[in-house]
Amino acid sequence: MKIVTIIGARPQFIKAAAVSKKIRKKFEEITIHTGQHYDKNMSDIFFEELGIPKPEYNLNIGSGSHGYQTGNMLIKIEEVVIKESPDMILVYGDTNSTLAGALVASKLLIPVAHIEAGLRSFNKNMPEEQNRILTDHVSKLLFTPTETAVKNLENEGIRDGVYNVGDVMYDAILHFGKIAEEKSDILNRIDVDKNKYILATIHRAENTNYEYRLRNIVEALNESKEQIVLPLHPRTQKYLNEYNLKFNDNIKIIEPVGYLDMVMLEKNSSKIVTDSGGVQKEAFFLNKPCITLRDETEWVETVENGWNMIVGADKDKILEGVCNFKPTAEKLNYFGYGNSAEKILNIIDKM
Ligand code: UD1
Ligand code: UDP
Repeated sequence: MKIVTIIGARPQFIKAAAVSKKIRKKFEEITIHTGQHYDKNMSDIFFEELGIPKPEYNLNIGSGSHGYQTGNMLIKIEEVVIKESPDMILVYGDTNSTLAGALVASKLLIPVAHIEAGLRSFNKNMPEEQNRILTDHVSKLLFTPTETAVKNLENEGIRDGVYNVGDVMYDAILHFGKIAEEKSDILNRIDVDKNKYILATIHRAENTNYEYRLRNIVEALNESKEQIVLPLHPRTQKYLNEYNLKFNDNIKIIEPVGYLDMVMLEKNSSKIVTDSGGVQKEAFFLNKPCITLRDETEWVETVENGWNMIVGADKDKILEGVCNFKPTAEKLNYFGYGNSAEKILNIIDKM
């Protein structure tokens, strides 16, 4: 059996780090990197550090509008897929690379396997929500991380091929968390003390593309006076420059970091403030209070369990969360047992 895997953006490299090596033990895998993310610290560093098999193809699509990016991916992925003629195409998550891979496969009548299927924010303005709905509706195998995701699919009439396998990001953090402890010296490098800083990430289009939202976030973090470490996504840097917004000295801005450094920063933070999907879950896995800079989340379990507080881009709510949020509830397990990649492999094998 030959599988073509499509990846292209940072969180997909981390998910592939949990899955690809296992797949290659049993099947032939060809990986296509679309080139959606291309800076060294947004792409190469993950392959070097996490031992992800080097992609057989890099399409070097790069940045651009949704139409430009997705359209060029469609053209170039199709060429490779016709040449390689796989039995299955594997896609992860909800980026433009995910949608392009799924559409190419669907039009060529090749079965699509979607890892992280069934997530919904119920906000169709999000490019990610559009990508995941469309991808789920052309997928043959839908690997969900949670029971909520299974229900979301049921509500859209998708029942066949749905397998709740748990979250591959939980596999990744269990495995690489230990390695991070041994290998990462990020706390020394950036000179911060354990449990004395808050970790923040910001990159979602719905925050960066609206000046008032990004301004509120910047002002709230500045006014909190807390020591905050912010590995800055290049998208956010671009918009901070465009709107002429500045962080105060309590915010330590650093370049995006590799996964080992990131996990180390998460593990030793006192709290996490983020609009990332993956980082919300990692906060939960690591027992860190999470303040989410979004108006809703796909990871509703983390909110229901009391460990994640949704604050949107409301300055007062962000300040309240950053300064006072203290979860007390006992944490429940929603994301499986760290063996999701193994389960995925066995299900594909049975096919
Ligand atoms: C994309 C995904 C988002 C995911 C995120 C993970 C879509 C629609 N969005 O958002 O779901 O959460 O990846 O990080 O697919 N840039 C660089 N260097 C890079 C990559 C990006 O400078 O290596 C800058 C460019 O200015 C680019 C901007 O970041 O225009 C946005 O990049 P893009 O991949 O379009 O979207 P993300 O915000 O990264
Ligand atoms: N991450 C990282 N370095 C960073 C910021 C994030 O390795 O500087 C990791 C993070 O730990 C998580 C993943 O990237 O595993 C999340 O990706 P991102 O926030 O870019 O996208 P999302 O999950 O929102 O789609």
